Amino acid sequence: MDEDAISRAITALRSGRLVGLPTETVYGLACDATNALAVASVFAAKGRPRFNPLISHVADLRAAQAEGVFCALARRLAEAFWPGPLTLVVPRAVGGSVCDLACAGLPTVALRVPAHPLAQALLQGFGQPVAAPSANVSGRPSPTAADHVRAEMGDRVAVVLDGGPCVVGVESAVVAVRDGQATLLRLGGLSRQAIEAVSGSLLAPDATDRAAPASPGMILRHYAPSAPVRLHAERAKPGEVLIGFGAMDCTLNLSRTADLAEAAASLFAHLRAADALSPTAIAVARVPDTGLGEAINDRLRRAAEGSQETP
Ligand code: TXA
Ligand code: MG
Repeated sequence: MDEDAISRAITALRSGRLVGLPTETVYGLACDATNALAVASVFAAKGRPRFNPLISHVADLRAAQAEGVFCALARRLAEAFWPGPLTLVVPRAVGGSVCDLACAGLPTVALRVPAHPLAQALLQGFGQPVAAPSANVSGRPSPTAADHVRAEMGDRVAVVLDGGPCVVGVESAVVAVRDGQATLLRLGGLSRQAIEAVSGSLLAPDATDRAAPASPGMILRHYAPSAPVRLHAERAKPGEVLIGFGAMDCTLNLSRTADLAEAAASLFAHLRAADALSPTAIAVARVPDTGLGEAINDRLRRAAEGSQETP
């Protein structure tokens, strides 16, 4: 194993940079899951039009239990299939360190323990959860070799760990566990039958449940503030809390220097903080629709739409 490459990768993660991470399923575009700015740069590098929640990778079940709440069923699934191509979506643990942006503001966290020896070495050495979607530009096939990652990402990754071709080659199966019931959210490198042998019959995602994804990456509703959201605001009306962007007079600011990565990193936390003030509405300043701004605006539109549906 290339110890030198692993220690360079750990240094890169610690400084908020991105690493090409071999796993048994596909190569991931990895960052420190506790660093919202680093997570924002993953979305930017992938050119994702919106913030989907990412999988946080950890070394073992014990590390996973620091981030998520495992009921008996979740623990059985983890013990049966970890390390391996299964991702479990569970409620976030109090005191968990995965940032809000990696969870897209949801009350749940997606966790996986990969089996690849290089991924294991990195996670053990780094000692923190690592967020990693597949290392392709959005809309392109997932990379299954180190060269694919270099071709897709160029110098957006600081280090690409070369772990050879991926043995599974498709993404992990994603299973949400809630109230002792397992729901298959994404088919992947573990068959439905293999999972059901442990979990009993899996529920299909409920198309009417707007908080659960109907298909991979299709989260219709992320964290929805309970206050209504007013977009493109220039100033706060009485009773409103204004979330600003760039130099302006406001209660909270996504980024005083109008930096879109900083804005992405603070978005969910600011919505939450604004909501906690129980305003008549959360007013949000206009954010440019370029680069990460597109994802920020997608999220803000969803938050605003959701609020109109609430009486
Ligand atoms: O094999 C894999 O899973 C690869 C390797 C790198 O580990 N990773 C991967 O990550 O495919 P990503 O971010 O592309 O896929 C995450 C999937 C999406 O379908 C997302 O919607 C779902 O997991 N997901 C993540 N967090 C979730 C949550 N809290 N609730 C529901 N679905 C979630
Ligand atoms: Mg992907």
